[in-house]
Amino acid sequence: MNDLDTLVESARQRFATAHTPAELENAKAQFVGKSGRLTELMKGMAQLSPEDKRTRGAAINAAKQAVEAALAQRRQALADAELEQHLKAEALDVTLPGRQHGRGGLHPVTLTMERIEGIFGSMGFDVADGPEIETDWFSFTSLNNPPNHPARSMQDTFYIDGTSADGLPLNLRPHTSPMQVRYAHAHIRKYGNGFDPRSGQLYGGPMPDIRVIAPGRTYRVDSDATHSPMFHQCEGLWLGENVSFKDLKVVFTAFCKTFFENDDLVLRFRPSFFPFTEPSAEIDIQFPSGPLAGRWLEVSGSGQVHPNVVRNMGLDPECYIGFAFGMGPDRLTMLRYGVNDLRLFFDGDIRFLSQFQ
Ligand code: DAH
Repeated sequence: MNDLDTLVESARQRFATAHTPAELENAKAQFVGKSGRLTELMKGMAQLSPEDKRTRGAAINAAKQAVEAALAQRRQALADAELEQHLKAEALDVTLPGRQHGRGGLHPVTLTMERIEGIFGSMGFDVADGPEIETDWFSFTSLNNPPNHPARSMQDTFYIDGTSADGLPLNLRPHTSPMQVRYAHAHIRKYGNGFDPRSGQLYGGPMPDIRVIAPGRTYRVDSDATHSPMFHQCEGLWLGENVSFKDLKVVFTAFCKTFFENDDLVLRFRPSFFPFTEPSAEIDIQFPSGPLAGRWLEVSGSGQVHPNVVRNMGLDPECYIGFAFGMGPDRLTMLRYGVNDLRLFFDGDIRFLSQFQ
């Protein structure tokens, strides 16, 4: 082997020990770089005769080409290895079973809400939705609960900084009752009925009864096994020219029996107080059998809509009369499914929630 063959061979070996492109480029510099060994050999040809220069030059060129070929080969090998590694790392086993997506389902309280809407819907009630950030006027004043009235403290209200566009204090509604007044306003506007609050003069023609439920989220400063700062209520209102407490009893009894799928359920209307109803009653139910048998369980507040509230709706209390109720869908859900801690509904634990699918 002459010196050039040796050089080519050592270049090959050197390249073979380079395991990254950077290492390979370093190794290359030792042979073909500015001060590489081949470059040095070229420089050394200066003293040779023209004849020797030609043969030596050709031999060095051939060696250079051999080194470059070895270099290109090694580059390709490194690139192939890298690709191979990538492919291995990203390997996809198409025979693996697919990732399962849970089917999901509705939250138990949502199931209750839909059930309530279905039952009242079948009795001709509209379903309405309203704001959770409410003004002081709708949450309290319109409901015959004036500023500084002690009944306001029945609800530990969350107040909000700032005021509404018309300068009224804001709160997170502590009950769905404001929807009674909001819905009545919308209904009256729709049918062009009502009276002028200044002159008291009536206008408009006959108007269909106001018959609505308003389910939704409500908020109070309250938290334990049976209270959550966010909870649900469903308001109900039936107002017309001839709607009585008897209608409340009939409607609510039909609702409870249908909701709990139990015709032997017993209801009790227990006298109570709410500023927006007169008379007022708590509605209790009793199951004839089962784990809760024999206990009176409170499910709703109710009563005959107070004349002041009817007036705030924009209607003449001499002409319009009716009932309202406000029940707790969370509690109804607990009773229906036998759940004893309200907080389970809001923890989002899939082991609990999946039992309702
Ligand atoms: N708003 C009452 C509460 O949150 C519940 C209630 C009671 C609503 C009587 C009514 C009603 O509509 O007539 O405690």
